[in-house]
Amino acid sequence: MKPLQLEKRGIAASRMIMGCMGFGGGWNQNPITASDIKQAHEAVDAALSIGINFFDHADIYTFGKAEIVFGQILKERKDLRESIFIQSKCGIRFEEGPGRPGRYDFSSDYISNSVDGILKRLGVECIDFLLLHRPDPLMEPEEVAEVIRELKESGKVRHFGVSNMNAAQIKLLQSYSNEPFIINQLEMSLAKLDWLETGVLVNHHERMHAHFPEDTLDYCRLENIQIQAWASLAQGLFSGRNIDGESESVRETARLVQEMAEQKQTSAEAILLAWLMRHPASIQPILGTIRPDRIQKSGEAMKLTLTREEWYSLYVSSRGRKLP
Ligand SMILES: NC(=O)c1ccc[n+]([C@@H]2O[C@H](COP(=O)([O-])OP(=O)(O)OC[C@H]3O[C@@H](n4cnc5c(N)ncnc54)[C@H](OP(=O)(O)O)[C@@H]3O)[C@@H](O)[C@H]2O)c1
Repeated sequence: MKPLQLEKRGIAASRMIMGCMGFGGGWNQNPITASDIKQAHEAVDAALSIGINFFDHADIYTFGKAEIVFGQILKERKDLRESIFIQSKCGIRFEEGPGRPGRYDFSSDYISNSVDGILKRLGVECIDFLLLHRPDPLMEPEEVAEVIRELKESGKVRHFGVSNMNAAQIKLLQSYSNEPFIINQLEMSLAKLDWLETGVLVNHHERMHAHFPEDTLDYCRLENIQIQAWASLAQGLFSGRNIDGESESVRETARLVQEMAEQKQTSAEAILLAWLMRHPASIQPILGTIRPDRIQKSGEAMKLTLTREEWYSLYVSSRGRKLP
């Protein structure tokens, strides 16, 4: 398997990431329970057991409860912090009453306060990676550069990246900052294929249906920006979720994934993640499941390399029609 872009920068991150959006007992204001903490401990154990050393958060996950639960785990396991990478994100604001709609906010005060909140909830002095969660159309790149410089100098954040951004947006931010943006987190899976279609369909009339930003994948590869894939299992679409009522191509793809898994004596999850990791951009998939059994099954992907024929069979099946 090709090394991660992060490895090329001397960062020994695991090939897959544990996503922590499911921690904290759900998107509600209910208090955190002992069972939420136990569930998170079990998920962390499962992640560590398959070699994951990278944990993905965001200030908004379960309204802050995901980070609080993780902070509790760190408190109970004193050695853990130094052996893992912690990533969080900021920039999304929920609705805060009349005249204060849900919005994005890359103002320096907002970013700076968000990081303080993240550190407090996690109970740590610094995080390894901070990502700007979704592009703020009102962002001023000079202002972002300045707050990033301050966060780096204060030792609160070690590295920076973005999420859901295209190449031009990253270039714009980068052109004002001496600090490199080294990660771009994007939705990518065998179900959401536009990141492939936009390149495959160059000079083809079907291309109008591919909405993924042109050049983004290649730009990240050229600049050694680590691509991380969220929703990498497409919420179980091809790995066991009830898909009655889904299209013929979804049901056929789920069947093919299962058949391949049986042939290789592995899990459907492993096939789906190995499919993402087979791409030469060295994609780092994020696991969204917090079930230990699914995390373990996902870990089998790190031992698999799909052939070109297997990779294309899955791609063509999911797109639902032959390649041009
Ligand atoms: N940057 C962004 O904008 C962004 C957006 C969303 C997420 N993320 C990050 O990416 C991570 C992964 O995203 P995701 O949660 O959307 O990924 P995912 O892995 O595609 O989906 C995980 C969800 O699907 C469920 N699931 C998986 N397999 C299933 C099956 N066979 N049957 C039924 N349910 C199944 C899981 O439930 P169980 O827990 O019960 O297995 C979980 O709720 C998140 O934790 C977060 O860290 C980032």
